[in-house]
Amino acid sequence: MEDKLSSVAKSFAPSPIQELSHLAQRCNAINLAEGFPDFPAPSHIKSAAISAIHSDFNQYRHAPGICDLLANIMKQIHGLDVNPLTDIAICCGQSEAFAAAAFAIIDKGDEVVLFDPCYETYEGCIKMAGGVPVYVALDPPQWTLDPNKFINSFTGRTKAVVLNSPHNPTGKVFTKDELEIIAGECRTRNCLAITDEVYEHITFNSEKHISLASFPGMQERTIITSSLSKTFSVTGWRVGWAIAPAFIASAIRNIHTKLTDSAPAPFQEAALTALGSPPEYFESLRSDYESRRDYIVNLLTRVGFKIQFKPQGALFLFAELPENCKLSDVDYVKMLIQTAGVVAVPGRGFFHTHLSREKFSLGGYSYQERYIRFAFCKSDQTLASAAKRLGELIDATGCLNPQ
Ligand SMILES: Cc1ncc(COP(=O)(O)O)c(C=O)c1O
Repeated sequence: MEDKLSSVAKSFAPSPIQELSHLAQRCNAINLAEGFPDFPAPSHIKSAAISAIHSDFNQYRHAPGICDLLANIMKQIHGLDVNPLTDIAICCGQSEAFAAAAFAIIDKGDEVVLFDPCYETYEGCIKMAGGVPVYVALDPPQWTLDPNKFINSFTGRTKAVVLNSPHNPTGKVFTKDELEIIAGECRTRNCLAITDEVYEHITFNSEKHISLASFPGMQERTIITSSLSKTFSVTGWRVGWAIAPAFIASAIRNIHTKLTDSAPAPFQEAALTALGSPPEYFESLRSDYESRRDYIVNLLTRVGFKIQFKPQGALFLFAELPENCKLSDVDYVKMLIQTAGVVAVPGRGFFHTHLSREKFSLGGYSYQERYIRFAFCKSDQTLASAAKRLGELIDATGCLNPQ
């Protein structure tokens, strides 16, 4: 009966990364793989959710007020004029907002430009909508955007560009100049943009997140997607949004209604409290993550990883394998699980462009097989336990011994 599956479903094969996840569970490994916090969510918003349940906000619901708060935030932070009545669709997390956005704008054969490496879910949504992903490789080790590569990726069939900044997996925050290039090309080619801004409040040092929609002529062609998940450490609540010109937001709302009807009612109520958090909340989110970023950078540098790019935002470190290490990313992670009891994600799952074997290669591996993603959205205790386990495996040369 398997032939009854759709061709899209058949194309979503389980990845080797899932096998590693099972191995990690069997070995009870410390989890630095998944991008969700293992520390408690803020108590002011948990109380709001509990109180919403007790107040019986337990049915299908489109909570009034969230769109007003989001419109105010967009004005304050990005100077954007967003109409709360027409320009916002509340969805089940950024994931559903992105999927609904893809269904709203992509027709069969439309091409969508993405940057590589990138977060895994975009491709699946684009394909389910009938679109064709076209990847533009960012250049390691700084993950810079090559304007020529970007410009050459457009064809007469390009419908949209997907931009995720701050970026998963690298922690890159796209520069103003890079954003200007992206905006310029969208305007020239009359293309849309879908942005994923879930890490908008997690930037380090002097980096600041700039929304692509704030560039001249871009708000009218940009779908901003984001959510509560990362900013408020509530990835399981599934409340997110798309902000777009009214005709697109309306299409996204219609699709959202057909897919899921509404985001979880009590958590929409709690979103009112979350989005109204005082500035100190966002400041401490940023500084706590910056300390965790510094901790993991120091830890992995000490055990021999090559860290040429320190994350500027988000909550991942994309670390290059030690110079003398002959293992691939997948084998290295297997070794980490089995000998250190620590799990992270092999980098290859984030790459889609042709694996280049000439440049940057070592031991026959392309650069796409030489990175490992470590999530640092973990408690001090988890990070310290990982440091202890990794420290116990350091050999006389000061590097992790992969035997
Ligand atoms: C770049 C990026 N976008 C979106 C998501 C998922 O967001 P949500 O929980 O709002 O669906 C993640 C989760 O890891 C992510 O890393």
